[in-house]
Amino acid sequence: ESLFRPQQSLAGRKVTITAGPTREALDPVRYLSNHSSGKMGFALAAAAQRAGAEVTLIAGPVNLATPAGVKRVDVTGALEMRDAAERAADLCDIFIGAAAVADFRPAEVAEQKIKKRDDNSEETLALIKNPDIVAGIAARKERRPFTVGFAAETEKVVEHAQGKLARKKLDMIVANDVSVADSGFNSDRNAVTVIDANGSMALPSALKTELAEQLIEIIAAKAQKQ
Ligand code: CTP
Ligand code: CA
Repeated sequence: ESLFRPQQSLAGRKVTITAGPTREALDPVRYLSNHSSGKMGFALAAAAQRAGAEVTLIAGPVNLATPAGVKRVDVTGALEMRDAAERAADLCDIFIGAAAVADFRPAEVAEQKIKKRDDNSEETLALIKNPDIVAGIAARKERRPFTVGFAAETEKVVEHAQGKLARKKLDMIVANDVSVADSGFNSDRNAVTVIDANGSMALPSALKTELAEQLIEIIAAKAQKQ
């Protein structure tokens, strides 16, 4: 046995993480989605696993390898992600919503491929709001894990993220300026501000893998005190 043991800040703890985009079907061959790569959520899953946690990673459609030792649940739409998240949250201590859940889905999913019309008349698409997955978990009265959200913003980043922290009743939110070049959504790097009821702390731009290590240490420390 090695004398060197990494700090196991999450030893014996169960962590659930959502990651990647969701895909909202329009018909059998089409969907609405976004450019989320899933890299941040996957990096968090890897870091939590290395910190000793038992990790369930609920992943939308992404092109990433499953981190070693992590239990992965693949989902497609927001409703499917919500069901998987609720199931995993029943058993977990910490829930991290890193997914870029589509805010809306088509009101109806056509059973057959939608055909275009012959005339040039305008088409409209009816959308309905998807459930807020992380807010649903945070609103629990029972079996409520320490709940962390992300906020993707293009302006007034901290202000908007503070609003989401309060509205969704989260324990912590990671604010992400997605307007900065080489940061956020599809990048390997990210710069974030961590916000909770006690204040905020900026973490400078770093590789998502490095940032994930820092975030997991912060979350482990905060969840401990709960
Ligand atoms: N989120 C979620 N379910 C949704 C929408 C968002 O769980 N249906 C979670 C995201 O995973 C993230 C947080 O809520 O942790 C914030 O997501 P974001 O898109 O930044 O905020 P929204 O509340 O959707 O508001 P808006 O997109 O209008 O800024
Ligand atoms: Ca959103």
